[in-house]
Amino acid sequence: MATVLAIETSCDETAVAVVKNREVYSSIISSQILVHRQYGGVVPEIASRQHLETMNEAISLAIEQAQLKWGQIDGIAATCAPGLVGALLVGLTAAKTLAVVHNKPFLGVHHLEGHIYATYLSEPSLKPPFLSLLVSGGHTSLIYVKECGIYETLGETRDDAAGEAFDKVARLLQLGYPGGPAIDKIARSGNPQAFTLPEGKISLPGGGYHPYDASFSGLKTAVLRLVQKLEKESGSLPVADLAASFQDTVARALTKRAIACALDYGINTIAVGGGVAANSVLRQHLQTAASEHQLRVLFPPMKYCTDNAAMIGCAACEHLNNGHTSPLTLGVHSRLKLSQVMELYRH
Ligand code: KG4
Ligand code: ZN
Repeated sequence: MATVLAIETSCDETAVAVVKNREVYSSIISSQILVHRQYGGVVPEIASRQHLETMNEAISLAIEQAQLKWGQIDGIAATCAPGLVGALLVGLTAAKTLAVVHNKPFLGVHHLEGHIYATYLSEPSLKPPFLSLLVSGGHTSLIYVKECGIYETLGETRDDAAGEAFDKVARLLQLGYPGGPAIDKIARSGNPQAFTLPEGKISLPGGGYHPYDASFSGLKTAVLRLVQKLEKESGSLPVADLAASFQDTVARALTKRAIACALDYGINTIAVGGGVAANSVLRQHLQTAASEHQLRVLFPPMKYCTDNAAMIGCAACEHLNNGHTSPLTLGVHSRLKLSQVMELYRH
């Protein structure tokens, strides 16, 4: 039963948590959204600097709120891939330093494995196998979770991630950054059937379409063309209708692929994770389709959908319980496949 202090700095959240297996003792998240908003997206150099400035205080707060002493912590973990390398380096270096100073095992954690583990924080009794639908600003994947560290990616986006599409379309509609929550909000007063948009199917060389892979860049371009046409014709934009139609298209595309994948592989539970899992229409579509097919769909609470360190700590606890630790020579990787997770624990 390991207790781990975990650090997450892969993008624009400085997060530190103390977790005992699937129980969160503390979870500190310092968001940089306000700093990056003026640039319309995350500026990597600014993100690294912000992580540096916030790190020490976040660590102290996480320990204080967990009401634990360093002697009660069994390991120190940090996200080491994938993500912005400068940002990852800040968290990884802090974790290695704490591990050396307090003489604890050190673990690097794959960010997407963290998102998968977020589901365990609200469903501690969940056991693999299950299907994870990971939809964030950087990733859109359908992952067959077989056991701790053993994952098979069955479907993914061929271009933009779902969250990235939300952010880009929100920028087009001048809704600000991050785009997902803004589109979700304004779409409530819009008509999702107002415009027909392309779903983004991936053709297979032998004919037909890939059943699980997605594409969102064509959809984004279709919204751009539509916006240009509407502006030319009427001079004003039906923003709520555009947002609702776009959101509905993304939600339908993701739902169709997740349900088909679960049914084809005989997996009865779909666990959704990543920032886009907060989307209200995606939740509705998935719930409805899952109950039609007698499947179970699980959503972590909002605070564990977006980036946080509790999910990283939860993954690290299970690895530590299994005897996995990382060498102190472990580096950061901007990209790393989920199927390579176990390489992080090779000495
Ligand atoms: O998982 P996350 O916090 O960071 C990454 O690892 O990327 O996901 C952030 C993404 C952003 O693209 C944001 O626009 C999107 O999640 N997002 C949403 C919603 N809330 C956040 N997308 C759609 N609907 C939402 N309610
Ligand atoms: Zn993430």
